[in-house]
Amino acid sequence: MGDATDTLRIDERWTRTVCEIVESHLTGPSESAIEAMRLRLLELAFRPECPQAEGLYAATDVTHYRRHLLAGTEASPYSCLLIQWPAGHATPLHDHDGLWGIELVLDGALQVEEFRKDESPGTDGLVHARTLVLGVGDAAAFTDPRYVHRCRNLSARKPALSLHIYGGMLERFNTFEPDVAGRYQPSRYVTRVDSVGGLAGI
Ligand SMILES: [Fe+2]
Repeated sequence: MGDATDTLRIDERWTRTVCEIVESHLTGPSESAIEAMRLRLLELAFRPECPQAEGLYAATDVTHYRRHLLAGTEASPYSCLLIQWPAGHATPLHDHDGLWGIELVLDGALQVEEFRKDESPGTDGLVHARTLVLGVGDAAAFTDPRYVHRCRNLSARKPALSLHIYGGMLERFNTFEPDVAGRYQPSRYVTRVDSVGGLAGI
């Protein structure tokens, strides 16, 4: 689907650099390797060829949350996605199906509220860990399979753009909503990819 790449105007050198950095840190993966990968990826947000939110959104689809697969197949040890965030868009609480991940802001700012699943009796099922505000060049990383978060574009007026690296193809995930007793219950979903390009299919 080369058309999607052309439409999104993503610089191929930039995408290749993303993949080279990720592949050079795929040793395990351990928490320290993921942290090293996270630190190495940050400068990609400041490269002149880094994609920008306004440039990627066509005037007609600026209201849609979009996931663009840059690299990865079902057999790959990792996948890379660009996510386009409309102004003010917020995700539900969700996990990443046990995969490790890195989420790097390329344009705009995201709020990330982080939780940990806790099945202990007497809890509501999720324990709040921390809340992050990520600007351009900031990234959250996670390796704990119990990790849950929700993310929000902090701007009410401007779209945002982020790069997501996962330890495989994120094909399914759970969202979490409180039941009548206030306990968070999972609902299972299949992920949707809106466009494919870059080095997808490798
Ligand atoms: Fe996420």
